[in-house]
Amino acid sequence: MTLEFAQEKNFYTSSLTSKKSGPLNGSARIPGDKSMSHRALMFGALAEGETMISGLLEGEDVYNTATAMRAMGANITKGDDGLWRCFGQGVGNLEEPSGVLEMGNSGTSTRLLLGIVAAHPMTVCFTGDKSLIKRPMGRVITPLEQMGATFLSRAGGRLPLAIRGTDNAKAITYKLPVASAQVKSAIILAGLNARGTTTVIESHPTRDHSENMLRHFGVNVTVEKTEDGADAISITGGQALLGCAVDVPSDPSSAAFPVVAALINPGSEIKLHRIGMNPRRTGLYDTLIEMGAEITFENQKIEASEPIATLVIKSTKPLKGITVPPERVPSMIDEFPILAMAAACAEGTTKMTDLAELRVKESDRLLMVANGLKACGVELEMGEDWLTIHGNGKPPKGGAMIETALDHRIAMSFLVLGTATQEPVSIDDSSPIKTSFPNFIELMREIGADIDSRA
Ligand code: S3P
Repeated sequence: MTLEFAQEKNFYTSSLTSKKSGPLNGSARIPGDKSMSHRALMFGALAEGETMISGLLEGEDVYNTATAMRAMGANITKGDDGLWRCFGQGVGNLEEPSGVLEMGNSGTSTRLLLGIVAAHPMTVCFTGDKSLIKRPMGRVITPLEQMGATFLSRAGGRLPLAIRGTDNAKAITYKLPVASAQVKSAIILAGLNARGTTTVIESHPTRDHSENMLRHFGVNVTVEKTEDGADAISITGGQALLGCAVDVPSDPSSAAFPVVAALINPGSEIKLHRIGMNPRRTGLYDTLIEMGAEITFENQKIEASEPIATLVIKSTKPLKGITVPPERVPSMIDEFPILAMAAACAEGTTKMTDLAELRVKESDRLLMVANGLKACGVELEMGEDWLTIHGNGKPPKGGAMIETALDHRIAMSFLVLGTATQEPVSIDDSSPIKTSFPNFIELMREIGADIDSRA
């Protein structure tokens, strides 16, 4: 289903209710990876020649990236063959957009684009929706200022903001104060057009799609270990990106929703094809397997520098509560809302720590998850950066209206929970789902989920 069709059918403009569904069955194709889709369009716009993208996520966040790249001079079109084609301008040659860049809900688009603009001689204004304008941009402003860009932002480094980039950016060495692939990527992208070699040091490995995909476009990106075991990622400015073919795998973060739905509905068996299996994205799958989930990985192979596999999920026994190792957090940073739903149905206690970053995602995810689960009758405790959930081996009561706070993952997580609870679960606003998973409702219905606009 296309985004336009979903909007026409009014799937995503109102509240939705999900009801006890019984076993889920079937096979499905999950939309393209969001992180890789943003990067494919951005790198295509920075490349020389044509980039052809298959499997691009056709969700609102990625459309916002496409619109921004077009506003900076890239020619981006979708052909009748379903392939997206991007004719780039070459690094350093992007054009100054004439209007404000409206980034909607997308933190990834905003932070990565700030990196690109920082090393181009132009002034660009960015804004976003009610969620995005609350999110911290100081984490990219600080290193990009060191590289020579100047900013004018709202208090606390919030959007709307204006950035003035430079054609004389300085290479820096920067140790990431937070585990963030967005900050790492913003600095690397500014480094592409800086004088000298820019190095980002990360102590906690985060998703490395920028590094992998830049190499795929012909750029030399090196990774070395520092004395204290961190990764030092380096890029030397002045390298050209060469247009190429990018095949975007299905998004493991989106796949997580039907996976957990199957696991909490006994007797389910589903198959999901071509899921991205980058080890820096698969922490949820390791966690679910430790909780006793039966997940197998078939047809494992490498495509476009990234591992993929077909996932087969069988719900044969209830999940068990576990303690999630804190070092695993970056590899499942977007999956805590859906893990919390699995934990609420599991037998025993699930402990999750080191979750401070969840407070600054599309919503305060710790709070939204805790509030929603409590309303559904789940016993839990929450701290500044941790959450402990007590399950009793069967789904909770449900029967609540959940506030989603413009957060797609909160919306989808509670609709998944509602497929197993005794009483229906409703969400107040389904519109954010289209940012990352435009065919979520249709796909879930196809495998047997009872999700509808009627309460
Ligand atoms: C992303 C990185 C993560 C993640 C986000 C996508 C990316 O954010 O939460 O959904 O594509 O680089 P942080 O880098 O802020 O952790």
